[in-house]
Amino acid sequence: MENNAIIISGANGNVGSYFARKFADKQDNVILIIRNKADRLKDILEKPNVKLIQADLNNFTLLKSKFQQLLKETKWQPEKIIHTATVRSHDFKPLAETDPQIWQDIIQGNIIGTFNLLRVVIPVFRKHSYGKIILFGSNVSRIGLPKGSAYAASKSAIANISRTVAAEEAKNNIIINTVSPGPIKIDESHFSESYRRFRAEYYKEKVKNIPLKRSATFEDLFGLSNFLLSKENSYITGEEFFITGGKL
Ligand SMILES: NC(=O)c1ccc[n+]([C@@H]2O[C@H](COP(=O)([O-])OP(=O)(O)OC[C@H]3O[C@@H](n4cnc5c(N)ncnc54)[C@H](OP(=O)(O)O)[C@@H]3O)[C@@H](O)[C@H]2O)c1
Repeated sequence: MENNAIIISGANGNVGSYFARKFADKQDNVILIIRNKADRLKDILEKPNVKLIQADLNNFTLLKSKFQQLLKETKWQPEKIIHTATVRSHDFKPLAETDPQIWQDIIQGNIIGTFNLLRVVIPVFRKHSYGKIILFGSNVSRIGLPKGSAYAASKSAIANISRTVAAEEAKNNIIINTVSPGPIKIDESHFSESYRRFRAEYYKEKVKNIPLKRSATFEDLFGLSNFLLSKENSYITGEEFFITGGKL
């Protein structure tokens, strides 16, 4: 329907900006949540079917008021959300040596940020007894992440938030799943030198052990996500889907 809309968090990220473009190009109404920059979205921001919310997911009050304001202005009815926003591991130390503040920032951003976003969106979905939600996790939820314990813990939490909300919201016709990729082929140019080194080392080993011998592409992620959000999916909820080229 013409007023329906999809929300994308982390919309200026690698995956988020790809998804934003895909949905914007097929003329869906798209609500993009960004935190700082929108440089990857420049070519779609002027489209009438694209609206931007600049808010930190840690700030529930701001997020809620900007979201409600936008719905008032547009009269859009959001019915889908893809939550890709994430805080990455950034000190690359074993758990015992990790700075507690870094643990706290990652847990805050990835778990409380997800909690805040869902607290804003679910009541809107409930009003119309319809909603489809995808949370982006990671395959580290089942294999762990040496030197990235907080990120690994937060991604397991996301899968369990999704299982729980699936049970809680089924009566409201709200479906929620977690999409958990392994390595994704992304643009790394904006990462720090140390983070690029960490990824290169980590992924070189990982890709060697992937039966399909490559990282996931954005298209791989889109295919599954698009199905999970579609009307064709009315029964799959609370699941975690691993996109890992055959690697268990
Ligand atoms: N890339 C991979 O290889 C890989 C592998 C497995 C799983 N995943 C998962 O896939 C998803 C997408 O990954 P990606 O590579 O697209 O990530 P990304 O490029 O790092 O983008 C993440 C986005 O999240 C935003 N963000 C972070 N904290 C926020 C907050 N508090 N409030 C609002 N926005 C916030 C960032 O905004 P700013 O630009 O303002 O910082 C950034 O644009 C993530 O959930 C990730 O865990 C990725």
